[in-house]
Amino acid sequence: MCAVRVDVDTAVAQLRAGDVVAVPTETVYGLAAAARNDEALRRIYATKGRPATNPLIVHVLDRAGLDAWAREVPAAVEPLLAACWPGPLTVVLPAHADVSSVITAGSRTVAVRCPAHPLFRELLARFGDAVCAPSANRSGYVSPTRAEHVLADYRDLPLAVLDGGESALGIESTIVRPHGGTLEVLRPGAVPLARLRALWAGEVTVPSVAAVAVPGSAPRHYSPATRLRLVARATLTHAGHDDVVVCFEGPPFACVGRVERLPADPEGYARRLYALLRELDAGNHSQILVEQLPDDERWHALRDRLRRAASQD
Ligand code: TXA
Ligand code: MG
Repeated sequence: MCAVRVDVDTAVAQLRAGDVVAVPTETVYGLAAAARNDEALRRIYATKGRPATNPLIVHVLDRAGLDAWAREVPAAVEPLLAACWPGPLTVVLPAHADVSSVITAGSRTVAVRCPAHPLFRELLARFGDAVCAPSANRSGYVSPTRAEHVLADYRDLPLAVLDGGESALGIESTIVRPHGGTLEVLRPGAVPLARLRALWAGEVTVPSVAAVAVPGSAPRHYSPATRLRLVARATLTHAGHDDVVVCFEGPPFACVGRVERLPADPEGYARRLYALLRELDAGNHSQILVEQLPDDERWHALRDRLRRAASQD
């Protein structure tokens, strides 16, 4: 019994039968089930080992699909949807009374996103209804950006995996909640804050990296099993033989252990980070030492993820 690749026909049949299917998205792979089937949705929680208090994102094919889930879509949100959908933006809005509490975790709001990945869109179109999908990792672990990651995480389960290649963005969607004239960023992600500000007339508020804004953002999350520490570049040279260093591309520096380099732009860094953390976690390293990220807003989402990956709490 192990996770296996399936084609779209089989994936559609699995969703119809109330089973869970791993799907590719442009952000990270998701673990999808029919959004109108509570039993199927409970299977998502069981498969991931996800706490029942952590709500799910509904994935719709287009803007029209949102109205079936959100009771109210403020006019000010429309420019955001027009510009960012399909794409990595999730909006949290008041839910219709009939939206299952298995989705909302009893919160009366629902998070909705419209994914851009063509294979996932084909699945949604052929299935003909929305699906819920959290990231496909086992709860708390690093999100998967390739089918191989999902196959490895569920080696012991008969999980169907739709292989759509490598996720183009490599970091989760940005989650926002409109609140009167204010747009609250609940989770920074693939849509940059500058883009939100350009599309939203009022104030855009961003939680500090340490704040817990959404139920799933426990201090420790996105974490490899190997201890991960964020350290200043000057300190990286003290890394031991068994440590691995993840630093920015640039001038070489002396270091006795393994060194991995990531691009110095946030998009390039995000595309490779999770796959690299998974690869390093499979090696026999005593620590993963990651060079601190620039204290610049463009790196906010990545700082958030790495802080949580490094957290011991
Ligand atoms: O890019 C993504 O968003 C990926 C792909 C698969 O679409 N999905 C994803 O789902 O990252 P997940 O479950 O790993 O993270 C979703 C976050 C969780 O922290 C959850 O608590 C929050 O969204 N969330 C879901 N519904 C919410 C709601 N009604 N209010 C506030 N937060 C919500
Ligand atoms: Mg997740």
